[in-house]
Amino acid sequence: MKLGVCYYPEHWPESMWAKDAAAMKALGLSIVRIGEFAWSRLEPDPGQYDWAWLDRAVETLSGAGLQIIMGTPTATPPKWLIDAHPDILPCDQYGRPRQFGSRRHYSFSSQIYRRESARIVAAMAERYGSHPAITMWQTDNEYGCHSTVESKDSDAEAAFRVWLQAKYDTVEALNQAWGCVFWSQEYRDFSEIDPPLATVTEANPAHRLDWRRFSSDQVVAYNQMQIETLRPHLNGADITHNLMGHFTEFDHFDLGADLDLATWDSYPLGFLEQAWWDDPIKRHFMRTGHPDFAGFHHDLYRAVSGGRFGVMEQQPGPVNWAAFNPAPLPGMIKIWTLEAIAHGAELVSYFRWRQAPFAQEQMHAGLNRPDTTSAAATPEVREVVELLNELGELPATVPAKIGLVYDYQAHWMHQIQPQGKSFQHDELSLLYYTALRELGLDVDILSPEASGAGYALIFIPSSPSLTAAQIERLRADGAHLVFGPRTGSKTEDFQVPPNRAPGAVQTVLPITISHVESLRPGHQEKHGPYTVTRWLEQVESDTLAAEHGVIWQNERATYIAAWLGGDALKRLFQSVCELNDVETMDLPIGVRVRRRGNLLFVFNYGTPSFYVNRIGPALRQAVCLTKTHAAHPGEFAIYRMP
Ligand code: GAL
Repeated sequence: MKLGVCYYPEHWPESMWAKDAAAMKALGLSIVRIGEFAWSRLEPDPGQYDWAWLDRAVETLSGAGLQIIMGTPTATPPKWLIDAHPDILPCDQYGRPRQFGSRRHYSFSSQIYRRESARIVAAMAERYGSHPAITMWQTDNEYGCHSTVESKDSDAEAAFRVWLQAKYDTVEALNQAWGCVFWSQEYRDFSEIDPPLATVTEANPAHRLDWRRFSSDQVVAYNQMQIETLRPHLNGADITHNLMGHFTEFDHFDLGADLDLATWDSYPLGFLEQAWWDDPIKRHFMRTGHPDFAGFHHDLYRAVSGGRFGVMEQQPGPVNWAAFNPAPLPGMIKIWTLEAIAHGAELVSYFRWRQAPFAQEQMHAGLNRPDTTSAAATPEVREVVELLNELGELPATVPAKIGLVYDYQAHWMHQIQPQGKSFQHDELSLLYYTALRELGLDVDILSPEASGAGYALIFIPSSPSLTAAQIERLRADGAHLVFGPRTGSKTEDFQVPPNRAPGAVQTVLPITISHVESLRPGHQEKHGPYTVTRWLEQVESDTLAAEHGVIWQNERATYIAAWLGGDALKRLFQSVCELNDVETMDLPIGVRVRRRGNLLFVFNYGTPSFYVNRIGPALRQAVCLTKTHAAHPGEFAIYRMP
C-alpha cells in the first residue's frame, strides 16, 4: 500500500524541489506522480527535446527516496503542434473545431495525433523507461474529460465507416440491423454513412449506439498505442491510466483489460455536487461526499483491470470546478483514504502537493497552500501514515458473495432511448448498490461478460441487451439473479426482441412484458408494500404469480418490474439474501462497513450518534484497533475479526 501525491516541478522554481521532496518523504509519502501535462517544456520547439530539467526533477525526487509515476503528456498538445496540424482538434456535433487554450484538445481518431503521441511517448520511454525509481507510468490524463470522446472530424468519420464495414460486412446487413427502411434511411454504400449528429430530430438509435461503441473503441485503441509504445522500454514498471468518477462515455472494462492496474480520481465533494441527488441529500453530505459514490467506483475500478486498483488523485480540500465547492469535514481525508484501502486500493495519491497560485486551478486546494504552509489535509495524511504503520501488512481483499453488474452499453442505450426522462441508469445502479451496502454487504462489480462463479447473488440493475450466453455465464455456480426493469428489453442491434421483453431473461424466468410506462415526477402508485415512481411495467406469466404486480420470482431469478425507492429495494434485497443464506446488517444511510480480509472498517459519513453495536453479532468477538468507534460523522473504526 502506497500513499503518494501529484507534483508539478515545472510549476515551481527549481530551488524548491529538494525541500518539497524531503517534505513529502517526511510526511510519509512514498510515491509522486509527475509529467502528465509538461509537453511544452519537454519539447519547446518541434523535435527539440529538453530533458535536462526533468532529469534533474527525477533525480531530486528519487534521491529523496521517493518512487515516481511518470505521466505521458498527451492530454496537452502544445500550441506549435496544433498550429502545424489544426486537424488534431476535436470537433463538436456540427464538425466545428474546439480550440486550443485549455486541455484535451485532440481527437482520438486523428491519425496525425496518434503519430505525434507515439513519438513523444517513445522519446520519454527511451529516456526514462528503465529508471529504477519510476515504478509506474500513467498514459495521458483522464481520457474523455470535458466531453472529448465523441468528435465529428474527418478522420473520425472515415474510421467510423471502416469500423461499420468490419462489423457488418455488407451495407445490406447494416440496413437490416438498423432498420433503415424506416424513414427512408437506407444506404447504398458504407461511404454514405455519417456520424448520427446534428440531425433534424432524433437519429436512428442503432446508428447512435454503433457510434458510441465506435467512439469508445477509438479511446481504447489510442490507449493501446501508448501502451505498445511504452512497454518495450519498461523494466517491469506498471502501466495505469487515471479514470474518472461518474464517467461513462467509453467502456472502462475494454480499456482496463490493457492496464496493469486501473486508477481513478476521487473528488467526493465535487461529484456529489454534480450528480443527480436532490438538495436535501446534497446538503446532508456536502462536506463528506455521498457514502457510496467512492465505494462504488473503488469496486468498479477494482473490476476493470482484473483486481488491482488505486486512487491517483484524492481530493484534499475544496476543488474549483463544481457549482459549489465546500471544504471537507475534519476527518474526511482519513476516511476517504481508508475507504479506498478497505476496498483493496494499493495506492492513494493526493491531488496536489501545493495549490498553484496561477492559471485555471488556482482555487483548487492542495496538501500545501501556495505560500508553502500546510493546508488542512496534511495532518490527516500524517495520521493515516501512522495508522498504516500500526496496522502493518494488510490482509488481501477477498471476493464478495454479492455481484452487481455495471454495463456501459446499457448506459448508452438508456441515454439514447430514455423513454422516460427520469429513468437514469447511473442513478438506478447506485440505488441498487446503496441498498446492498446499507445491508452491510461487500459488493464486487462485474462486467456483463463476467463469470458469476463464486457469487451467491448477482444484481443486474438494468441491462437492455443482456444475452442468454451472458446470463448463463453469470449463473456459472447457480447464483440467483436479480434483474431490474428493462433488462432484456432490446437485442444487441437495438431492436425489440422477437419474443418481446424481457428477452433472454425468459431463459430463467417465464414472464413477458405486455407494456411499459414512464411516470411523471410527483406521481406515485402503491402496489402492496411497494411505492412505484418513474417506471412501471405490465407483466404476464402463464406459470408465475407476482408479488403485488411488481416482483416476479422463482428459485433462479427475481425480476423487478418497476422503479422502486431505496427503502423498498433494501427490504426486497434483504429477503432475497435470506432466501439465499446471505447474512445482512441494517445500517443507516450515513454509515458503511467494508471488510478487507479479517479487518472490518466502519465509516461514518453522516449519522450523528451511531452506536456501533447496531452492527450486530459480527462484532461480538472482534478487537477494536482504533480509538474511535465511528460514532459521529467524520469518524471511523477498524476491527480485527476472529
Ligand atoms: C482532475 C484532473 C487534474 C485536475 C483535477 C482537479 O480531473 O486529472 O488534472 O484538473 O481534476 O480537481
